[in-house]
Amino acid sequence: MSDPTDLPHLTVVDHPLVQHKLTHMRDVTTSTAKFRQLLREISQLLAYEITRNMDLTTKAIDTPLMPMNAPVIDGKKMALISILRAGNGLLDGVLELVPSARVGFVGLYRDEETLQPVQYYFKVPEGLADRLVIAVDPMLATGNSSAAAIDLLKQAGATNIRFLCLLAAPEGVARMKEAHPDVPIVTAALDTGLTEKGYIYPGLGDAGDRMFGTK
Ligand code: URA
Repeated sequence: MSDPTDLPHLTVVDHPLVQHKLTHMRDVTTSTAKFRQLLREISQLLAYEITRNMDLTTKAIDTPLMPMNAPVIDGKKMALISILRAGNGLLDGVLELVPSARVGFVGLYRDEETLQPVQYYFKVPEGLADRLVIAVDPMLATGNSSAAAIDLLKQAGATNIRFLCLLAAPEGVARMKEAHPDVPIVTAALDTGLTEKGYIYPGLGDAGDRMFGTK
């Protein structure tokens, strides 16, 4: 299986198409429909980066001209894990690129008194230990719920995990590095910081509200 330590702990995808689309997503005048469309497009560009060093094997095929051993992705189907609810916005685009992936969901909410993440839903594919597992959540803010979600995936057997997000705050990256140094992060931007309420700034606001139109 590919070694996640082949990837740096943090990769910021600075491709012009990613940065251009991200600017439109940040813009407060961008509509819900456009936001969703951009998220789908950008998720595929980010997925391209996070899957860059997947293992390949070869398969014997016949082209119209001759037989050849052609490359195909090795190993069990990857598992995509959406961290609810905003993770679903990234999930759809990544699934278009990797339609055979298995899909799981992790639901966590923040307890208002303890401020700690509490699990309310957990359903993941079997055989996580043998799969590349890509957890998706657009906003890596404090990193508390992301780190908790990765804890749960490791408890379920996952050993080869990557984390895909749209925006990251330095606090979230540091929290993930401390809790899960073996989990590479791929993002479109490393923003400046977190507001008192835990929003990434300059950011794009509440990703769930913007993609589902709930505010
Ligand atoms: N979650 C969001 O949706 N936005 C932020 O800025 C931080 C966490």
